[in-house]
Amino acid sequence: MTAQLIDGNALSQKLRLDVATRTTALKARGVTPGLAVVLVGDSPASAVYVRNKVKACADAGLHSVLEKYDADLTEAALLARVEALNNDPAIHGILVQLPLPAHINAQKVIEAISPAKDVDGFHIASAGALMTGATGFLPCTPYGCMQMLDSIGFDLRGKHAVVIGRSNIVGKPMAMLLLQKNATVTICHSATANLKAMTLQADVIVAAVGKRNVLTADMVKPGAVVIDVGMNRDDAGKLCGDVDFAGVQTVASHITPVPGGVGPMTITMLLVNTLEAAERAAA
Ligand code: GUN
Repeated sequence: MTAQLIDGNALSQKLRLDVATRTTALKARGVTPGLAVVLVGDSPASAVYVRNKVKACADAGLHSVLEKYDADLTEAALLARVEALNNDPAIHGILVQLPLPAHINAQKVIEAISPAKDVDGFHIASAGALMTGATGFLPCTPYGCMQMLDSIGFDLRGKHAVVIGRSNIVGKPMAMLLLQKNATVTICHSATANLKAMTLQADVIVAAVGKRNVLTADMVKPGAVVIDVGMNRDDAGKLCGDVDFAGVQTVASHITPVPGGVGPMTITMLLVNTLEAAERAAA
């Protein structure tokens, strides 16, 4: 079997077209969705990520501002900027790029963002909303993974989903979203005794660890769907995921590539959340 690719670029293009259409409709009512992206420090990787986010906003017709600060910005100054953005009517979504410098308490900064503008879905109010089924914002990466499963018409009801990784940003919210769709969910992590025994039972596997070759062909049930959230470099410096793509694609029914899989979907769902925030503010 050779797995079918779930193409994150193609799906993103389709969803971003819808964002652009809804943005045009909102603009006709006098509201331009606006995203503020805050970057502290000079990490080259973070600089690339935020540039891509701001460019995606412009391409879809959203307003965006990029605020860049030196690595020695104080926590108090950053909190003051967040408060100003909370009160700025032109801004509907606020994203503070992580990681922040060590002297800044990232969780404190995230909790300072108004839940109504928490388009990253990292605020405790958003996490609580996801846990209880209330309205909030979904973290962009797991939200994008769910869209990818939806795009192949995969019905999760009664299926066994295995999530590898338990981060607050991906693993835990991913498990909640799969549960919401009536999957039976197992969360595996670094202390899981026998990962292969778990993944071999899975109809869907989401790998979100940040380590190469966490999932190999011998660990996958024939016909399973595999979503690769990882962003790593191989020995040749080439971008790769957490999944041994060459091996697993011979066993899985569907698989997301890296690059061109979950990555573009994360940015797309940020646009969706920002538009949604603006639509809610305008309602
Ligand atoms: N750093 C890496 N990914 C993300 C993300 O999705 N949001 C934020 N705020 N920081 C990140």
